Amino acid sequence: MVIRSCNLETVCGPTSTLPKNDLPEVAFAGKSNVGKSSLINAVMNRKSLARVSAQPGKTQTINFYNINDEIYVVDLPGYGFAKASEKERERWGKMIETYLNTSDMIRAVFLLVDIRHTPSANDKQMFEWMAYVGYDPIVIATKADKIKRSQLDKQIKILREGLGADKDTIIVPFSSQTKQGLDTIQDFLDQVIEN
Ligand code: GTP
Ligand code: MG
Repeated sequence: MVIRSCNLETVCGPTSTLPKNDLPEVAFAGKSNVGKSSLINAVMNRKSLARVSAQPGKTQTINFYNINDEIYVVDLPGYGFAKASEKERERWGKMIETYLNTSDMIRAVFLLVDIRHTPSANDKQMFEWMAYVGYDPIVIATKADKIKRSQLDKQIKILREGLGADKDTIIVPFSSQTKQGLDTIQDFLDQVIEN
């Protein structure tokens, strides 16, 4: 996909009304610090339109990026942020749930998990819940630059088993540093735009 324009069009906090968009939406979910905003910057070919930080919990709102007036890329707040209060965590969880449950325009849902680790209980819960709501989540295994190529198959297997994903679930190794996997993600977005 060629990026002709992209801008942060809508930012939703816990009390905001979600937008009724008339373009397809693709949503990116995953625990705090997994690399959602970095991935979205890579997709948009921008260094810092989506805010990235060493501190987890940076994205606390649902951010809708309009790309080319063709598609919305949706950056969801990270879940499982340890330092957040119970109340905050609950609020973010509700926001994510409400969005995934109520938007009519979601055409693809991506779940990001760190390629190095066994998925957390929250990751598994999110994956199961996405499937339950009726999505076929595409799993993105982030920070692929942090492992050796020889470890790749083993880590993908650990992710698949840890999430309880079947063999048909697509798992894409990705790195926002090396851009490994970026073309695959762009292909998914192109498919959404074309349909
Ligand atoms: P929240 O907004 O807190 O939910 O985090 P996020 O999922 O948006 O993560 P973000 O993109 O802000 O990245 C978190 C940290 O991981 C930053 O320090 C990034 O530089 C780093 N990071 C993200 N992607 C990669 C990657 O592919 N490789 C490496 N090595 N580091 C990455
Ligand atoms: Mg973020």
